[in-house]
Amino acid sequence: MKVLVVGSGGREHALVKSLKKSPLIDSLYALPGNGGIARDAICVPGNAKDIPGVVAFAKSEGIDYVVVAPDDPLVLGMVDALEEAGIPAFGPHKNAAILEGSKVFSKNFMKRHGIPTAAYEVFTDADQALSYLETAPIPTVVKADGLALGKGAIVAMTREEARDAVRTLMCDKVFGSSGDQIVIEEFMEGPEVTVLSFTDGQTVIPMVSSMDHKRAHDGDEGLNTGGMGTVAPNPYYTPEIAERCMNTIFLPTVKAMREEGRPFRGCLYFGLMLTKDGPKVIEYNCRFGDPETQVVLPLLESDLFTVMKACTEGKLAETEVRFAEKHAACVIMASDGYPVSYKKGFPLTIPEDAWDHVYVAGAKEEGGKLVTSGGRVLGVTAVRDTLKEALEAAYALTGRISFENAYYRRDIGARALKAREE
Ligand code: AMP
Ligand code: GLY
Repeated sequence: MKVLVVGSGGREHALVKSLKKSPLIDSLYALPGNGGIARDAICVPGNAKDIPGVVAFAKSEGIDYVVVAPDDPLVLGMVDALEEAGIPAFGPHKNAAILEGSKVFSKNFMKRHGIPTAAYEVFTDADQALSYLETAPIPTVVKADGLALGKGAIVAMTREEARDAVRTLMCDKVFGSSGDQIVIEEFMEGPEVTVLSFTDGQTVIPMVSSMDHKRAHDGDEGLNTGGMGTVAPNPYYTPEIAERCMNTIFLPTVKAMREEGRPFRGCLYFGLMLTKDGPKVIEYNCRFGDPETQVVLPLLESDLFTVMKACTEGKLAETEVRFAEKHAACVIMASDGYPVSYKKGFPLTIPEDAWDHVYVAGAKEEGGKLVTSGGRVLGVTAVRDTLKEALEAAYALTGRISFENAYYRRDIGARALKAREE
């Protein structure tokens, strides 16, 4: 079997490492991959958003199965195009990826089906949004309708911040047409949990829960980033809460998508907030999370490729998905200054025996050396019997990896450790 993973980040490195363990796969490719993924897969130059280019490569190379990892190509319909060319692929079709591609769609969808989420209003006109904000409860959250590199949600603590957010999205169009429509929603409070799930459109199997750390600095200070570290499982996600989420959120979502003629096949990401009124959906994503995947897949004991194919073929109910009863922690090592501005091009030193635990996000090969090429450079993950041990081991690994300008949070998992004592 020849399998291709589309994408180039730490998440894709985790997918590649997990797929590499499958006895069913003979050759593994990544497009475009990166300098670290190149150790584990054959990297092919190209652009992950170039649908005709990816289809042409897959056809010419005789690829048997494609895993489309990032949001953009999924929302643009890459899985549909591959299938039309006779190549099965993991990921939702375009008409189901809209669950992430349009916040207005996903909010209206949840309202239609009684799935718990923050109360909201939709605006297509900046003046109307601004006049609504005159009396709206504060804090509030302003969100671009479309994809915005993970930066389209602005939590506004004051009325002025909320107005600025509206102007940024709708008037300055910093995310282009993604800001043509916006959602203004109720501010929720409570611990956040990510639950990735496998689904074939009928059956839904949640993976082990996880906790992201989105802010750049310790103590959850600083700007929102793509994610500075993760732990799994998430201690706030008790078996009782899991059961409630299954019945009020996961099953109703999958059923309603099917009933609307948009069966979702692939990895459905539930971003949840455990509010005092129960678990509510913050957002859906139509793909694996980054860096959640870097702690979830190392705990997966079943063969990832078998599970993915079962999702594509509608056979998930007959497939075992088993996770280790252990803990995983991932610390992201970034370039200092991320997410605003940072220098790149610095050589990386990674001891050979650490590579099993390294997920490269932003590094490329230059003159036979691996050099930094992005804001988030890599993640290091450790799996141990307890969260405390996993965190100690992940931080010990960061101490053995070096590059100029390296920055990482020192408090990944601190809140999770405290929650365990509560
Ligand atoms: P999103 O891009 O929708 O995942 O939002 C990014 C982050 O903003 C989330 O992880 C939350 O921390 C925060 N957020 C989004 N929506 C809300 C909300 N309604 N209430 C409070 N915080 C929110
Ligand atoms: N870690 C958040 C995301 O993947 O969207």
